[in-house]
Amino acid sequence: MESLEKKKTIFSGIQPSGILTLGNYLGAIKNWVKLQDEYHCYYCVVDMHAITVRQDPAELRKRTLDVAAIYMASGIDPKKSVIYVQSHVPQHAELCWILNCYTYLGELSRMTQYKDKAAKHQDNLNSGLFTYPVLMAADILLYQTDLVPVGSDQKQHVEITRDIAIRFNRLYGGVFTIPEPYIGQSGARIMSLQEPESKMSKSDPNPNGYISIIDDPDTICRKIKRAVTDSDGEIRLDAEKKPGITNLLGIYAACCEISPKQAEEEFIGKNYGLLKEKVSEAVIGRLAPLQEKFKQIRSEKGYLEDILHENAQTAQQAAIRTLRKVHKKIGFVAK
Ligand code: TRP
Repeated sequence: MESLEKKKTIFSGIQPSGILTLGNYLGAIKNWVKLQDEYHCYYCVVDMHAITVRQDPAELRKRTLDVAAIYMASGIDPKKSVIYVQSHVPQHAELCWILNCYTYLGELSRMTQYKDKAAKHQDNLNSGLFTYPVLMAADILLYQTDLVPVGSDQKQHVEITRDIAIRFNRLYGGVFTIPEPYIGQSGARIMSLQEPESKMSKSDPNPNGYISIIDDPDTICRKIKRAVTDSDGEIRLDAEKKPGITNLLGIYAACCEISPKQAEEEFIGKNYGLLKEKVSEAVIGRLAPLQEKFKQIRSEKGYLEDILHENAQTAQQAAIRTLRKVHKKIGFVAK
């Protein structure tokens, strides 16, 4: 009987390293909302990951609360899902240390995200940047997670998490659930408006490359108007030859809850100007109710902080259970 089966556990997180973008919303958060009833979900604001790159303290504090508020404004319900801040649950750091001792330098040095970031942050090649995937493994394994909704750029990190968990289980018997990446059906991958070959990123130095979730309608129109397209004038899906147009169709489709194919059909024979106008309208319409709720949540500071405090306690209880098992297995003396 399905109703008696234990709900599977989902874990995911976003770094508060910039104001969230339309890509975070359409590619991740929007889908997380749909998973809440079927799964037991943890949605974390991963501030400990964010400090692998230098952050301004006041900005980090503000953005951490912003991300939590955006989760809630998007429809993640803190009564159904556990919304919390990573640094509020110190067990993440504790398990990370232990897992560091079960992770090889060789496997970490193969991580493509590390290689990319190391090239970008030559002036701050700290060891946190290198062991970033181990902290991510700790996040996931602490909650005996079954499924990890991530974009394709994070799949390698889920793979290494599995490798670490399998290694640990082999040494000590079943301790960790082996997680799997969860790639949703509508896992829209939203690309930069300026360089549509790369993912829309909240840490893009060029703000015209991304639409922030809290951009006002004029800014959204302006950024979409300036979005890079191509010169052949035909609207069709072709990620290789027409990445800009394909991205705009993808954004439109995700905002309207239709498939990119349906979006393509809607715009056959139309011009780029009209497409951009319609995409702007769709984005503004989609974000309006979210922005309204975000403002409201952010204006009641005590309320948000209370929720984060309570949810961190819930997370901590589950984390402590796993950590106790781990301590016992590896030979730490019980407190
Ligand atoms: N590394 C992820 C990213 O940048 C964020 C993250 C941290 C995460 N811990 C996680 C995602 C655990 C899923 C599960 O997108």
